[in-house]
Amino acid sequence: MPLVTTKEMFAKAYKDGYAIGAFNVNNMETIQAIVEAANECRSPVILQVSAGARKYANPVYLKHLVQAAVETSDIPIALHLDHGADFDICKASIDGGFTSVMIDASSKPWEENIALTRRVVEYAHSHGVVVEAELGKLAGIEDDVHVEASDALFTSPDEVEEFTARTGIDSLAIAIGTSHGAYKFKPGQDPKLRLDILEEVGKRLPNFPIVLHGASSVPQDKVEIVNSFGGDMPNAIGIPESELRKAAQMAVCKINIDSDLRVAFTAAVRKHFAENPSHFDPRQYLGDARTMMKEMVKHKIVDVLGSANKA
Ligand code: G3H
Ligand code: 13P
Ligand code: ZN
Repeated sequence: MPLVTTKEMFAKAYKDGYAIGAFNVNNMETIQAIVEAANECRSPVILQVSAGARKYANPVYLKHLVQAAVETSDIPIALHLDHGADFDICKASIDGGFTSVMIDASSKPWEENIALTRRVVEYAHSHGVVVEAELGKLAGIEDDVHVEASDALFTSPDEVEEFTARTGIDSLAIAIGTSHGAYKFKPGQDPKLRLDILEEVGKRLPNFPIVLHGASSVPQDKVEIVNSFGGDMPNAIGIPESELRKAAQMAVCKINIDSDLRVAFTAAVRKHFAENPSHFDPRQYLGDARTMMKEMVKHKIVDVLGSANKA
């Protein structure tokens, strides 16, 4: 099956109360881990590429690695630009074969966010590509942008109808308590999602797919592995997976997960070298890393997203 857009995936997910995982990819092992997990769980999946990933791996390499994943699996796969910062990166991704792009103008003034998003939508739709945009501001770090928790802003439900109508977007990312990165909340805090805001957004935008960024939960067992084998990750927690599960049963159709996969990958590499200090063949430690990442993706599909057997 060729790459697909997210249109049909989201329509089914909305109707049946689950969400599709959008996992960030940077190299071959990551793509294999995610797609093998999704294939074995018979789940649709979104592979997303950030500006940092484009810089690290070269978008042409990523495109062809994703093409290899498409040819060796038989589940719906969408290729998505994560946090597109301007029109040019969205256009380059559309021209390069992506089936979905995010234009992230959420830090810009209202009219500017609308104008830029509308411009991307016009170009994308004329090429059969769908568009995600964002309202509100998440705390955390993505690429070179660092938003302090005190500057984070929940999405206002009063704005969503005008924004979606004037831009013509296909899905909307909202800020309801998640944040980017692996250092989110301190243990002892009780992070929760503002499901009341999600519910209100859902009433204002019937049948419209909502997206959650910053949805890693910082798995403590993997952080412990990293730290027990020489790592020094600060003690931190994310939004509990049970809260994300509730959001997936509501209007949320796409849940972005990157940091939890990074932590799993790194935990396996640290463990491998602690147990095998003489190893030097990258296939040995990258193989372990790929396996641990694959297990993490399966766990998310089954226990958080609810998208198993929906391919
Ligand atoms: O939200 C951002 C993603 O986790 C991508 O991270 O910008 O470091 O590639 P990155
Ligand atoms: P996490 O850092 O919580 O994994 O979020 C990833 C993300 O939102 C990618 O856009
Ligand atoms: Zn994000």
